[in-house]
Amino acid sequence: MTNNIADIAVLVSGGGTNLQALIDAQKSGIIKSGKIKLVVSNNANAYALTRAKDNGINTATVLKKECSSQAEFEQKIIDILKENDIDLIVLAGFMSILSVNFTDTFRDRIINVHPSLIPSFCGEGFYGLRVHEAALSKGVKVTGATVHFVNEIPDGGNIIVQKAVDVFEGDTPEILQKRVMEQAEWKILPAATELVCSSMTAKAAV
Ligand code: GAR
Repeated sequence: MTNNIADIAVLVSGGGTNLQALIDAQKSGIIKSGKIKLVVSNNANAYALTRAKDNGINTATVLKKECSSQAEFEQKIIDILKENDIDLIVLAGFMSILSVNFTDTFRDRIINVHPSLIPSFCGEGFYGLRVHEAALSKGVKVTGATVHFVNEIPDGGNIIVQKAVDVFEGDTPEILQKRVMEQAEWKILPAATELVCSSMTAKAAV
């Protein structure tokens, strides 16, 4: 916590459009109780790293292939987060399931954005475009996005915010993904981040 502002780390793996939404929300004042201090990627080529650097945010990259186990990979990330005194960890397209050791280390301090209305189309194996492929195969007429706390059950922690999005005839997974991002994810992730940060700073002030 710096001057009663929560220090945020965003964990990413890919394009980082949700990271961009967080950066934009910080600039516009939607996020005012927290500040993005660090971006951590498990992919050296993630465009999210460029977005961070373009905005003067420190970055770190931890590659699974350079670790001997999942435990070592997670420990490296834990060490970086602790060294940076991070209060809140935001998973924004971070494509690695975290073990109970990690989630217990930061209990109630990790949130994730998932591109469906949990409990539909979630859990292990449901990530990125696969989620939208599954929603279209099922023929749902409404989908959406969810921001939730992260515990040891994949996509199983308490729900913070959800937003519904219509599915239209002729949608492809790519078209639906874009609509869910634009209408839901890029709005609810900043909103939930501010909500959690403001509750953290309120507690810290007591
Ligand atoms: C987003 O749609 C996010 O919800 C999803 O990956 C995409 C990342 O895009 N995450 C998951 O599926 C996690 N289970 P981004 O890198 O452009 O933010």
